[in-house]
This record gives sequence, C-alpha cells and structure tokens, in this order.
Amino acid sequence: MRRPLVMANWKMHGSRASAATLVAGLLEQIDDPRADIALCPSFVHLSQVLDACAGSALAVGAQDCSHMHQGAYTGEVAPDMLADLGCQWVLLGHSERRQYHDESDGLVAAKLAAAVEAGLKPVLCIGETREEREDGEAFTVVARQLQGALAEQSALAGLVIAYEPVWAIGTGLTASPEQAQEMHGYIREQLAEVKGVDAEQVRLLYGGSVKAANAASLFAQPDIDGALVGGASLDSAEFANIIAAA
Ligand code: 13P
Repeated sequence: MRRPLVMANWKMHGSRASAATLVAGLLEQIDDPRADIALCPSFVHLSQVLDACAGSALAVGAQDCSHMHQGAYTGEVAPDMLADLGCQWVLLGHSERRQYHDESDGLVAAKLAAAVEAGLKPVLCIGETREEREDGEAFTVVARQLQGALAEQSALAGLVIAYEPVWAIGTGLTASPEQAQEMHGYIREQLAEVKGVDAEQVRLLYGGSVKAANAASLFAQPDIDGALVGGASLDSAEFANIIAAA
C-alpha cells in the first residue's frame, strides 16, 4: 500500500509574512493526516518554513537544486546545502524550469543524481505540452523524459514522479481522472523497466490545476498516489481540503 503524498509548490510567491500565515493556517487545520505532506517554498523562505514546521506533520522541500555539490557556481544552491538545512525533498525538472531555463533531460538527470547523493528525496516532474498531446506524442514525450532522467542512475532512493501535463498547469484545465490514470498506469509500466526501481512502490503524483473540488476523483484512481499542487496550495483552507481528500 503506497501512502498518499500531497506536496505544495509555492513557486515564486510569498513573503515572510504570508509564509508565516500560510503555515500557521495549515498547522491549525491539519490533524493526524493520512497522507505525507510537504511544502516547497522559494529558497529564501526555506529556513523560516522549516522552523515553523519543526515537529509537525509537514515536511519541507526545495523547488530545484544544482547538479553540483559545491564550487564556483554563482547563484546555484547545492542539494547538500538543502539537506544540511533540514529539507527532505526537492522538485526536479519542473516544466517551468524546462521552459524558462532550458533544462534538458541530461541536466535533470545530473541534478537527480546529485540530490540522491546528498540524501534528498527527488520528485521528478514530467509531462507533455498541449501541442505534444494534440500531435499524439504525449506518451512518447513522457517515456523520453523518464528514460532521460532515470536510465543512468546508480541510486534512486525515495524517488517520486509527478506527472504534470503542461496544458493543465495554472490553466484551470485538469486532466480528467481517466486521462490522468491512463498516463500514470503507463508511467508505472515504464518504471518497471528501469533498473533499481520497484515500480509498485514509487508514488506517482498528479499535478495541474488540482483543487479541493477535483482532488477526490483524481485520488480515487489506482495509480494516482497524491498531488503536486501549485495555485491551490497558497490558500491554507483549500490545501487542507486537498489533503483531507487524500
Ligand atoms: P497549478 O496547481 O497552479 O496548476 O500548478 C501545478 C504545478 O505546476 C505544481 O508544480
């Protein structure tokens, strides 16, 4: 039985004040959750959020990390620094990193290796664009992203996959539960081919306009083990309701 996992990706939102309010609101509303929960604020709010979440059911993760462990890489943050701070998780290969920062499958693979070496649990984000889906390429793209990030890894402890179709991110368009399940089933089949991975144990999250109103029908699918939530995670009541649905 895979324990559900619900993650918040705050993206580039928030201030010290709003982060404090959001975490306090969540701590008030979440009591003995039946899901694992993790918050991914921006780098600059990590310390504050870690302190606020200490001793609670809320774990903390970063939204990205460097592919290197240390050195002359101005502006980068090493996975080792994140682990040292107390982070457990790191999102990697988010479509916004691929789109705006030209992250390739090769770079995502290098980040993933560094993150696992540093002791972080990686959340590999994959998903096709609208054009790719319309062209019938969705499954090919997802398989390529999975292979590109996972094929050469020597260790994949704690691996989580987040399927986030780009056309559903921030658009209000959610993949239907059937569409999402179809892709999640396919991802699990693909994972079974990757050496060092126990496909039945890997948690597969869905992301893309998840909100309290659609969470339960997504979570009811056999291969959807939780969610990676953007916009709706910035509202503590909405996010608490998504957690309750898991
Ligand atoms: P939204 O929930 O805002 O669509 O964002 C999804 C996402 O990109 C989470 O990583």
